[in-house]
Amino acid sequence: MDKFLIEGGNSLKGEVKIKGSKNSALPILAATLLCEDEFVIENVPLLRDIFTMKKVLEILGVSVFIEGDRVKVDTRGAVGYEAPYELVKQMRASYYVLGPLIARLGRAMVSLPGGCAIGTRPIDLHIRGLKKLKANISITHGYVDAYVTKLKGSHIFLEGPNGPSVGATINVMTAATLAKGVTVIEGAAMEPEVEDVANFLNKCGAKIEGQGTRRIEIKGVKKLHGCEYKIIPDRIEAGTLAVGAAISRGEVFLKGAKKVHFESSLNKLKEVGADIIVEKDGVAVKMDRDIGSTDIETAPFPGFPTDMQAQFTALLSLSDGISIVREKIFEERFMHVMELVRMGADIRREGDYVVVKGVPYLYGAEVMASDLRASAALVLAGLSASGTTIVRRIYHIDRGYENIEERLRKLGARIWRQEE
Ligand code: UD1
Repeated sequence: MDKFLIEGGNSLKGEVKIKGSKNSALPILAATLLCEDEFVIENVPLLRDIFTMKKVLEILGVSVFIEGDRVKVDTRGAVGYEAPYELVKQMRASYYVLGPLIARLGRAMVSLPGGCAIGTRPIDLHIRGLKKLKANISITHGYVDAYVTKLKGSHIFLEGPNGPSVGATINVMTAATLAKGVTVIEGAAMEPEVEDVANFLNKCGAKIEGQGTRRIEIKGVKKLHGCEYKIIPDRIEAGTLAVGAAISRGEVFLKGAKKVHFESSLNKLKEVGADIIVEKDGVAVKMDRDIGSTDIETAPFPGFPTDMQAQFTALLSLSDGISIVREKIFEERFMHVMELVRMGADIRREGDYVVVKGVPYLYGAEVMASDLRASAALVLAGLSASGTTIVRRIYHIDRGYENIEERLRKLGARIWRQEE
């Protein structure tokens, strides 16, 4: 197991190119299962989760070749229908093969993902949506067991108690591309990744309209074909590095970042005193003032993303006031809080929110990463802390950030990976 060693105190300065979106790349790779053909997917980030998806596809009989940030996929020939627990437990997003497999084969056995550090994360909406398309689904021996002769279009309301679901919208939309007739998804997630997957599917011959809105309409087609497609930039990576610039009182140009994808994070950064300059080819973030306080409530897109909550909590722990950060999507997503407290932060949890009382500085400590974004928050805290921070269990961060230490070092950070 590797760990990060961080010597805090240096400001991040310079330019960094934003990698492709993990949360687009995963469902797009899974959606190649919909037809028998060849695909070239560009701008794919080289992350642990992508390698896990490669393994899932390979176990189903698909060939996947990674050449830099281009991934060639060949789905010709027979494919299997079972995604085993061994892989799904490593990465929840493996369930993205469910929709494509039922649509192509009329059969899928996908392991239930099980527990998660940030909340219960049920998949009832995925199942509800696919059942509406007339799939027969049961849960047996820890697996979602699905079969159908032919999926049929339907009118589906897909919201749950916490609002729309990115994963369910994508799974149901993907399956519906090959259903007989028209499917309408109301209460669809509007996240840019949903739009990206729909654009990819349309390039493969699907007929999807309304992506990026609450109502998506899918006219089923008989067959899809392969294509070349370029993934959108990762808005969460861009947001994390933007917070890195702010927390370290630096100045970073996020090359390739698209303002519309992470405007809610940029607005919060402005509120706490950062300067944001939007250029044609990216976004610059500069912080040369004291960090101000603000309140945050996570919400579905275009609201403030839950995937940026931990990083902003780290930032606000160094503000000159009191902030309230409320988590409305994943109830247990506060694992970073106690680790930040170990670095000197003054944060108190009250149910679904935390009260963050700014302190003048954080100090280095040994801390433990618990999930992907929590680990990013600890790295950011370490960059600004006085002294040495050791972040353990960084395999979490490798799931979602490509070569983060090398890229932070290029911006002036003192961060090294060490074997335990
Ligand atoms: C995706 C992202 C994750 C992000 C999340 C919310 C990927 C691989 N992951 O996760 O990084 O934090 O969106 O933006 O893209 N829910 C149900 N029933 C379901 C499905 C979801 O109740 O069947 C609930 C969830 O518990 C949560 C809310 O709906 O409270 C939103 O979750 P969802 O959008 O589905 O998250 P994921 O797609 O799993």
